[in-house]
Parts: sequence; C-alpha cells; structure tokens
Amino acid sequence: MKTLNIEETFVKCRCSYVFVFILVTWLKLNSVPRERNVIFNIGKAPIDSSKTPIVWILGGPGSGKGTQCDKIIAKYGFTHLSTGDLLRAEVKSGSERAKSLAAIMERGELVPNDLVLDLLKEAMIAKAGEAKGFLIDGYPREKSQGIAFEKAIAPVTVIIYFEASSETLTKRLLGRAASSGRADDNEETIKLRLKTFLDNNDQVLAQYPDKLKRINAEDTVDSIFSQVEKILDPLVAK
Ligand code: AP5
Repeated sequence: MKTLNIEETFVKCRCSYVFVFILVTWLKLNSVPRERNVIFNIGKAPIDSSKTPIVWILGGPGSGKGTQCDKIIAKYGFTHLSTGDLLRAEVKSGSERAKSLAAIMERGELVPNDLVLDLLKEAMIAKAGEAKGFLIDGYPREKSQGIAFEKAIAPVTVIIYFEASSETLTKRLLGRAASSGRADDNEETIKLRLKTFLDNNDQVLAQYPDKLKRINAEDTVDSIFSQVEKILDPLVAK
C-alpha cells in the first residue's frame, strides 16, 4: 500500500476542509427560515442611488412632508414611501405586532428601528424595477436609522428638511385633527410627537451637512414647492 508523504497528506486535508466548508455554508444558506430568506435576498438586491435617486423628506409632525410629497409625485413620478403610512397599514393588517405598534404611535414615540427598516426595505425592493426615484417620507427620525438605512439599502442622494416652528406645527395638526381620523392627531399626542421630534432632529441633520437642504416650511404650499423644484430639477436632468 502506498504511504502518503507529508505534502500529499497536507493537500488532502486541505481539500477535505474546503469541501466541508462549502457543504456547511450551502446547508446554512438553504436552511434559513422562509421569512428571513426574503430579507436575505432583499439584502442582495441592488438599489443604485446614483441612477435612481433616493430623497429623504424630513421635518416635524405637520411640517408638510405628505403635502409636498404629493406634489413631487405629480411632477417627477417618484415612488413615495412614508414610514408613517407603512406603519399605519401594518396596524390595520391586524398582525400580531399591530397592537403594540398602535400603542407606541399613540404615545407619539418611535417604533423599533429594525421593524421600520424592514418595512421600508421590502417596499423599496418591491418597487426597485420601476422607480424613477424614491421619496422616503419620515425616515430617518434617529441618527441610528440613517446609518442603518445607508448600510442596508444605499446612500441617500439628497435630504430635504422642512423647517417650521412648534407653534405652526401644532396649529396645523390641530386643524387637520377634525378630518384626519388619525389616532395621534390629538392635543396630548401632538405634544409627545413634537417632543420626540425635537429630541432627535438635530442629531439626524448634523450627520449630513453636505446633502442637507433646508426649506422654510412656514410659507405657502406652492412657494415651498418652488424651492423643492430647485433641488430636484437638477437631479432628474442628470
Ligand atoms: P407620520 O405619519 O410620518 O407623521 P408625522 O411625521 O407626525 O407627520 P404628519 O404625517 O402628521 O405630517 P406631515 O409632515 O406629512 O404634514 P402634512 O403634509 O400631513 O408618523 C406617525 C407616527 O409613526 C410617528 O409618530 C411614529 O410613532 C411612527 N413613525 C413614523 N416614521 C417612523 C420612523 N422612521 N421610525 C419610528 N417610528 C416612526 O400636513 C399637515 C397639515 O398641514 C395638513 O392639514 C396640511 O394640509 C397642512 N399644511 C401642509 N403644508 C402647509 C402649508 N405650507 N401651509 C399651511 N398648511 C399646510
């Protein structure tokens, strides 16, 4: 019987090691639960923000994010994803986590970051093929949300921030309360929403000095939109 010299034994051991490594990796990937597998594939799906701009729309509660997004959609045909809308849809779905989500939102607090990012990521990937650009409305609301987004999805292209005083925001939301049907449009929750916003906002904005565009949101809807156009026109002309 042929005896192996040290070199041959070494080569054989390495081959076996590589084979076992490949086998274990393959088994791991194929045993991921279905739900996680979706996220896993989502993580692989590319959104190239150099071709499909990603615009974050930020501002306090009632600053006019939704109002301006409607006008941006009408002119630019961007895909609008509001984290507030995504969360309200989740609450309506009656899912297991719906009750705790509803309670958090009625307290004017932020829902857990992982959940918001997963909802957003799934929605973006679903629209990736057709989107001319993404309007991400109401995200990030915390410094860590912005970091997580850019890591998991793509770098943001530009950030539009609608700036208005707490008095203006409160007045607008109270004005809307009669018709919105939103559980968080009441005096007590509006105060809490404002506090959550003010506690986090400066830190969020400070992260992006080069991409941040501030707009005075105390003005009329149309004059605010003309400021928005000055930011977005050059983006779509590229
Ligand atoms: P969300 O739904 O995003 O609410 P929000 O940030 O409080 O903002 P709103 O949608 O109420 O106001 P808006 O800025 O869109 O203003 P709008 O155009 O409607 O979030 C709700 C909750 O979800 C959060 O509190 C949190 O719990 C959770 N959540 C959401 N995102 C999250 C995240 N990323 N992480 C964790 N949790 C999250 O305008 C308001 C009113 O003003 C309207 O009546 C409008 O007609 C009027 N108006 C608008 N512009 C003008 C103007 N220029 N002049 C006069 N009136 C105007």
